[in-house]
Amino acid sequence: MKKNIENAYKVSILTLFPEIFPGPLGVSLIGKALSNKIWDLNLINIRDFANDKHKSVDDTPYGGGAGMVMRPDIIELAINSISHFPGPRICLTPRGAKLTQAKVKKLSLDEGLVLLCGRYEGIDQRVIDYYNFEEISIGDYVVTGGESAAIVLLESVLRLLPNVLGGVDTLEEESFSDNTLLEYPQYTKPREWNGLNVPEVLTSGDHGKIKSWRDKKRVEITKIRKLDS
Ligand code: ADE
Repeated sequence: MKKNIENAYKVSILTLFPEIFPGPLGVSLIGKALSNKIWDLNLINIRDFANDKHKSVDDTPYGGGAGMVMRPDIIELAINSISHFPGPRICLTPRGAKLTQAKVKKLSLDEGLVLLCGRYEGIDQRVIDYYNFEEISIGDYVVTGGESAAIVLLESVLRLLPNVLGGVDTLEEESFSDNTLLEYPQYTKPREWNGLNVPEVLTSGDHGKIKSWRDKKRVEITKIRKLDS
C-alpha cells in the first residue's frame, strides 16, 4: 500500500557515515515499505556542518583519556538543520537504557524519530542534555558506532508500522509482545532430517494439543533463558 510522503513515518539520522544507510533496511519487507513511502529516510551527514578546513567534528576529551569526543557545536548545527522533523530524539550509546519491546512499540506509534549516532569515545554530554536526547543501548556490549545500533532499533520499530509485514507475521504471538513469554520452537519439512523427527504432536492435527504443547514450550524456554541472564 503506497502512502503519501506527508504521512510516512519520518526517520532522521544524524551520522558521520550516511553511506551505511539504508543497508539492511533497504531490502525485504522494510525495504519495500521504504519504496512505498510507508517510512522515509532523511540522512544528515554531521561532517557537512564542520567549519574548519580539516572538516573536524571531534576533539580530545577534557580531563584527558583515550580517544576523541564529538563536538557539541558541530552537532548543534546538524540538529538545527532538521528542527522541523518530528519525533522523539534518541542517541544510540552503550551507556543508554536498554531497548525493550515495550519501548519499540511506543516509538512505532509516534510520527517518526530522530537518531543521533555516536562514534569515537562518544558525544559531548552537553549536546545530549541540551537537546533532550534519550540515551538508548541495544545491549551490554560495544559495537564500533551508533549506526549498527540504529539499524537494530529501526528494524524493530519499522516492522511494527501498519502495512509493513503485510500479514506475513503474527505480531501477537511472537516473543516479548506480551512482555513475558518467549516464542515456542518452530519446525518445517522434511519431517525427518538427519535422524531427527519433528515432535509428533505437531503432526497430529489436534489443534488443542498443539496449542498446549506450544504454551508449555514457551514457559520452559522462558525459564531457561531467565536463569541464564
Ligand atoms: N554504540 C556502541 N555500542 C552501542 C550499544 N551497545 N548500543 C547503542 N549504541 C552503541
